Amino acid sequence: ARRVVVLVSGAGSNLAALLAAHDDAAYGARVVGVVSDRAAAGGLDIARAAGIPTAVVAPRDFEDRTGWDRGLADTVAIFRPDLVVSAGFMRILGAGFLARFPARVLNTHPALLPAFPGAHGVRDALAHGVKVTGCTLHVVDAGVDTGPIVAQVAVAVGEDDDEPALHERIKVAERELLVEWVGRIARGGLTVEGRRVVVG
Ligand code: GAR
Repeated sequence: ARRVVVLVSGAGSNLAALLAAHDDAAYGARVVGVVSDRAAAGGLDIARAAGIPTAVVAPRDFEDRTGWDRGLADTVAIFRPDLVVSAGFMRILGAGFLARFPARVLNTHPALLPAFPGAHGVRDALAHGVKVTGCTLHVVDAGVDTGPIVAQVAVAVGEDDDEPALHERIKVAERELLVEWVGRIARGGLTVEGRRVVVG
């Protein structure tokens, strides 16, 4: 199976979905490590409960951003990943990190990019008054949520939706999308040609 390292900062429901899929050998991908910037991330508990090795690389332990970025890459590299999946990882991966894992880093985002990039995709979509939003799986490049898109799913915004309610529905779609495409990429490979992503 292809080796996957998952980066988490939060609850880790996307991670949990990958862990529910990876025991099946036919899935083609296996989570071999989980790395967080926060010791308190719920995703770390989910990983430990599943017996997956974890590591924390906290910015405060480094002199600057570049040092942290290198430390993160060094830690991720120990797991020899074929694929790195940022799943609720709330920090920007630097050029140094990305150069170590070229075209092998994916991110899941809770909006239909290029609309509403950044840390508050759900809140920003609601504030704008869109009637349809969703989630995006994309290859990470040097920008913020700007990389080539792998797949997207639309989610309708309800009249009474607040941020938590809408985010919860987006996350249901997001988990399915992530599990489906990480498996497809693991089994078929991924190539990036400009803005075009070819899987399989
Ligand atoms: C997910 O909805 C993910 O798209 C979002 O955080 C949530 C993490 O949930 N990420 C971002 O907003 C990144 N800018 P989880 O910890 O339960 O997987």
